[in-house]
Amino acid sequence: MTQKTPHIPARQPLAADVLTLADHERQAQERLGAAAWAYFSGGAGDEHTLAANRRAWDAIALLPRVLRPLAGGHTRCTLLGRTLAHPILLAPVAHQGLAHPDGEIATAWAAAALGAGMVLSMQSSTAIEDVARAMAGQAGAGPLWLQLYLQHDRALVRALIARAEAAGAEALVLTVDAPTSGVRDRERRADFALPPGLRTPHLEGLAPAPPAELGAGQSVLFDGLLRHAPTWDDIAWLQGETRLPVLLKGVLHPEDARLAAAQGIAGVIVSNHGGRTLDTAVSTARALPRIADAVGGALPLLVDGGLRRGTDVFKALALGATAVLIGRPAVWGLAHAGAVGVAHVLRVLRDELEVAMALTGCATLADIGRAALAPPAPHNNDC
Ligand code: FNR
Ligand code: LAC
Repeated sequence: MTQKTPHIPARQPLAADVLTLADHERQAQERLGAAAWAYFSGGAGDEHTLAANRRAWDAIALLPRVLRPLAGGHTRCTLLGRTLAHPILLAPVAHQGLAHPDGEIATAWAAAALGAGMVLSMQSSTAIEDVARAMAGQAGAGPLWLQLYLQHDRALVRALIARAEAAGAEALVLTVDAPTSGVRDRERRADFALPPGLRTPHLEGLAPAPPAELGAGQSVLFDGLLRHAPTWDDIAWLQGETRLPVLLKGVLHPEDARLAAAQGIAGVIVSNHGGRTLDTAVSTARALPRIADAVGGALPLLVDGGLRRGTDVFKALALGATAVLIGRPAVWGLAHAGAVGVAHVLRVLRDELEVAMALTGCATLADIGRAALAPPAPHNNDC
């Protein structure tokens, strides 16, 4: 079932019978070592949020319309002034060199060939200049955005912003839901550690944080690690340092989305970090509509977490998202078959979205709204 993916060097063929994102997941698990698998697929704590992200999309039932005209339908959308062929972007995922020797370069080839926006992690194995080069010159390539964590070393952040701007990045995505790592028990049980040879080029030269002088009764977390954690004031600092639009990633509370809009943030990514930070945090499918109601179209909303089918993408758009991101599925495609694998994952999801649109009577994304969703079933999670 290899789909044609023009412009992409066919480095590795897809395994036979790979049709869905879940098929890529199985292929990836067979290829990755146990510790890397625990890193990529695991979540925080007992992984309730990880599981809830998936279940919440499944639990939403579609309410299709029939006999509507569908000719001329398409998946085009506008995001930050750019027209994109479809609303599916690649979420920032760190350390992709662990999944495939080509790492983020392969992901970038696939994103460019499939017209998908790519958000490069600050903790990528590949520098933004190399990723930008891999995407350059491909007609219809989606935008490259850089994800940041605000480090105490502001000089490094400033230099990285300048590099991103020079490389042609079109936006900065500040991740705000992980001032400290979650309790990653699966990863810890698997004894996951980054292999010594794996680079994180954006963090090279990071000045060590000055040691905290902790007095009696002070907390290693709050008075140590978190004394440099960003606050809303730092958002203003970041906006002042760049000409690029700044998005916030990791917002779940409607009030935070309102604050972001008031502060001139260019877009909010409704996300719980794929269930990797705060376990039992609300699923994104549940958080999204309240945020959409709170900001009422004041800024674009994106969402990620557990999106595995075109119908999930459709439901996210129906609940108010302008676009969606996928995290782990791209890693599955990458580990399975490099650029071809990531491209296939994107292609499958887009094709499935088109089918969902056709079968609900929606010719364009603008036709997708809450009227396409059935009211929640009162007592169970069945359709
Ligand atoms: C992530 N995510 C993430 N987010 C971020 O802002 N910066 C990062 O470097 C990373 N790194 C990262 C590594 C791995 C292995 C995973 C699985 C995730 C979170 C990511 O951007 C996204 O929010 C979730 O992955 C979305 O959920 P799904 O699609 O994986 O269910
Ligand atoms: C993670 C960090 C890198 O989720 O964001 O692994």
